Amino acid sequence: MDSRTGTPAHDSLRAVQWRGDHLHLLDQRRLPVAEEWLDCRDAPEVAQAIRDLVVRGAPAIGIAAAWGVVLAAQRGNALDDALTILRAARPTAVNLMAALDRMRARIDAGADAADLAREAQAIQDEDLAANRAMGVLGAALIEPGSGVLTHCNTGSLATAGYGTALGVIRAGFSAGNIARVYAGETRPWLQGARLTMWELQRDGIPATLIADSAGAHLMKSGQVQWVIVGADRIAANGDTANKIGTYQLAIAARYHGVQFMVVAPSTTVDMATATGDAIAIEARDPLELLHHAGQRTVAENAQAWNPVFDVTPHELIDVLVTERRTIARPDAAALAEVFGRPVAH
Ligand code: MRU
Repeated sequence: MDSRTGTPAHDSLRAVQWRGDHLHLLDQRRLPVAEEWLDCRDAPEVAQAIRDLVVRGAPAIGIAAAWGVVLAAQRGNALDDALTILRAARPTAVNLMAALDRMRARIDAGADAADLAREAQAIQDEDLAANRAMGVLGAALIEPGSGVLTHCNTGSLATAGYGTALGVIRAGFSAGNIARVYAGETRPWLQGARLTMWELQRDGIPATLIADSAGAHLMKSGQVQWVIVGADRIAANGDTANKIGTYQLAIAARYHGVQFMVVAPSTTVDMATATGDAIAIEARDPLELLHHAGQRTVAENAQAWNPVFDVTPHELIDVLVTERRTIARPDAAALAEVFGRPVAH
């Protein structure tokens, strides 16, 4: 903990910054090669930034979208149109819809642009507080000296700050419970290789990169005791959508006796979706697979299928950490106890 700022150790980055009349975003397409920032001045620009992965990660896109609504209100643009275009930016992470529903409720209650800015700031502040709370709860479950494997990027870049799974890793490393961190590269967009490795290195947490296909081999070696991941949408029965590749890690973890932890704020829990089968899985451009660093790497005319999320069945999850509570073996009954009864769409 920095005694001057009150900021926990290993936490120095804020990638989504409101500047009074525009949104300042660290461009995640360019990291780690270049640290460039992009300014969005209206809701369509924010929606475009979300679609293009300038800003990404479930909580971060919800926060950015909330600021997109503020920009529309400041400019006197049609708020219904802004809400519609922002909601359509990406389909899987429910934090986007949750943030926009919250902004919609304020609009319906007669909020002006200043009121909406306060709401967007509250969404952002609450996410940071949730991450810090989850960090403490998750880190407490990990035995001193453990090794962990994470997937995708779930850190300050993906949230208001600190991170979900990476928040637990930050807190666990600070407490001495985590001795080794491995990050899967997260093909095809390389969130693990480009973003998680950069973020951890920047905050002084040593990490080792592995190919995604090395996960099961790593578990067999005994180097990791936990797989720790975030989530984009958690259905009412605990089934969890997260970055493609998460499901196979969960299967391998169960086989090898490695514990599997999902870390997500309550804004990621979707009690209106009964099971993971009903979660919309985003498919992105096959060119993400057919090219690497702007260069075609696969034979011309070859096809590719590029789903960018998968669903881990709740039976494979040992523990779900939310800011409200840690839930061992999450299922429909356990989630209903913490989040209330499932609601219909
Ligand atoms: O496609 P992305 O990069 O937005 O996917 C992000 C993830 O899958 C993260 O693991 C998830 O959003 C949890 S982040 C706090």
